[in-house]
Amino acid sequence: MASYNFAAGPSALPKAVLAAAREGLGDWDGNGQSVMEIPFTGEAFARIHSEAEATLRRLLAIPSDYQVLFIQGGAYGQFSLLPMNLLRGRESVDYAVTGHWSQRAANEAKRYCRVNIVADGATNGFTDIPEWPEWSLDPAAAYCHITSNETANGIQFREWPETGSVPLVADVTSDFLMAPLDIRRFGLVYASAQKNAGIAGLTLVIVHQSLLGRALPITPTVFNYELLAAANSRINTPPVWALYLAGLVFKWILAEGGLAEMAARNRRHARWLYQAIDESGFYHCRVAESARSSVNVCFELPTAPLQQQFLAEAEAQGLHNLKGHAAATGLRASLYNGVSEAAVSGLLAFMHDFARCHAPAA
Ligand SMILES: Cc1ncc(COP(=O)(O)O)c(C=O)c1O
Repeated sequence: MASYNFAAGPSALPKAVLAAAREGLGDWDGNGQSVMEIPFTGEAFARIHSEAEATLRRLLAIPSDYQVLFIQGGAYGQFSLLPMNLLRGRESVDYAVTGHWSQRAANEAKRYCRVNIVADGATNGFTDIPEWPEWSLDPAAAYCHITSNETANGIQFREWPETGSVPLVADVTSDFLMAPLDIRRFGLVYASAQKNAGIAGLTLVIVHQSLLGRALPITPTVFNYELLAAANSRINTPPVWALYLAGLVFKWILAEGGLAEMAARNRRHARWLYQAIDESGFYHCRVAESARSSVNVCFELPTAPLQQQFLAEAEAQGLHNLKGHAAATGLRASLYNGVSEAAVSGLLAFMHDFARCHAPAA
């Protein structure tokens, strides 16, 4: 029986990447050492690092005045590290709260400074993104933060807000590398790797160099963006294996046709799934059509027991990790780059059969 993983993260990796990763487990440098055993100060790791960065720069067309930092601590760590690194000389920051993760990011920032909530999606139960022309932006804010895709709530930005001279900062953790991204629209973007850039343990920060040098004195050395940029992300031991994996994923995306191809696949998969939900008269998606995530498709069934049954039967048929986030209840299918067309087709066939068996007769 085929087995498919729809987890929100850590999540499905492309099979070709997993196969390639086996090479890194063997004698990788010709001296009998695997990637996990090589010193991070040596030439072999320098090659892994620079190749990964070069491929990422090529994929996203990252301009030369942006630094790419490979660090640890997860996106959650960045929730603190953003104000720590970007605040100096300013007293407040702007946050758009559009779901679970931006709420957490704003809460964490409150430990360091005044947080101005420019838009609050809680007022509509996180079913839509408040229209950005109506956001209450503060021109004196150190930055304006958004979460491009709310993994738990299934909400995604389609266009970026205009923030004037205030740098736009985005948590792109769950839709990173799923479509081209105009980096110039942002002062900084950051992402945990374990969705579309490999495995947990690595966080990517892409930051315009004008934002370096603003850290508060309390910022830990190993998380200081300016010092990290100067040390080529090697102040202390980097997550060597996670960086190697990220490099393999970047190469795989390039070989598959790049980010335009990833976007085309994802749009196709999401369209099929939302169509199946909307046309069923049985499944239901609460998110407004204009804000629906193409990545984390959240939906519900008429009753909680039916949802339990759906999950149990799906598991039995090899369709794994469809339970929604604890903060949002319901079901969720995550359609990251590593989720194949066969997986999506399998899910659609199962949903169709389940609805046929359990939907009340019209
Ligand atoms: C949008 C978003 N931001 C932040 C996080 C937290 O990431 P981490 O657990 O790697 O710190 C997640 C985790 O799922 C996420 O989806």
